[in-house]
Amino acid sequence: MLPGMSFEDRVVLITGGANGFGRATGARLTEQGAKVVLADIEEEAGEEAAAEIGAEFVSCDVRDPESSVAAVDFAVSKFGGLDVAFLNAGVSTGCGLVETFDLELYRRAMQINLDGVVYGINAAVPAMRRRGGGSIVATASLAGLTAVPFDPIYAANKHAVVGLVRSAGPVYALESIRINAICPGFSDTRIIDGFKESLRNEGVPIIEVEEVVDGIVSLIDSPDSGVCHFVQAGMNPQEFRFRNIPGPKVSQA
Ligand SMILES: NC(=O)c1ccc[n+]([C@@H]2O[C@H](COP(=O)([O-])OP(=O)(O)OC[C@H]3O[C@@H](n4cnc5c(N)ncnc54)[C@H](O)[C@@H]3O)[C@@H](O)[C@H]2O)c1
Repeated sequence: MLPGMSFEDRVVLITGGANGFGRATGARLTEQGAKVVLADIEEEAGEEAAAEIGAEFVSCDVRDPESSVAAVDFAVSKFGGLDVAFLNAGVSTGCGLVETFDLELYRRAMQINLDGVVYGINAAVPAMRRRGGGSIVATASLAGLTAVPFDPIYAANKHAVVGLVRSAGPVYALESIRINAICPGFSDTRIIDGFKESLRNEGVPIIEVEEVVDGIVSLIDSPDSGVCHFVQAGMNPQEFRFRNIPGPKVSQA
């Protein structure tokens, strides 16, 4: 898929598509003529969302590599190929690092938020190669760009997604497959239900989901590969500029 092309007839797979950003992005892209497959572990919500927005639904647990391959195969068999993968499924952690550490919750968060993106790229790239190119966007977070003292495990897996995308992006761009990450701030989906009121009380702005979707859609269509775009309240979505790591100091002697 070339940047700047219309989404008409483009085949789009969205993980975490039953709710939140995934569902809203699916709705936006079906409006623009795309053939959308929503993939999610929540079957009832996923079926309902797909019926409502005119998409297809496939049950998928992104923690399982075979399930990611099956979701790609479903899109290919329904619509003849794959142009876009929006690897967006994610959860907050639900535990801390020491007193409240919980091995099961820790593994779950790392599996969904990091392994799910790795398996998604692994499954999508071969299908995109057959198409001559494509666009992959992973949902990281502002938590992938900055410290998050209240959920360090979430920050760790979102930073890992940022590192993954920056590293893989230039490599697969050589085959016209772009891989980028979207990094939204707090936005009004159920993932913030547990602390929405305290955010409001502290005056932290909560971004409208449609603003995040604007950023996602423009990143899907971007010619860049290996970049991270942030979405922050009151600002246009834009690329986050990483400072270069220092090179070695060469002795003048
Ligand atoms: N809302 C925010 O403030 C915010 C900010 C930055 C990043 N994010 C990220 O955005 C992404 C989407 O989250 P959201 O805010 O729309 O929340 P959400 O809870 O509305 O959506 C997340 C979706 O992921 C699905 N999911 C969870 N585990 C899964 C699994 N194992 N396999 C397949 N699907 C699974 C859920 O069923 C749900 O439909 C996540 O990666 C999240 O970390 C959210």
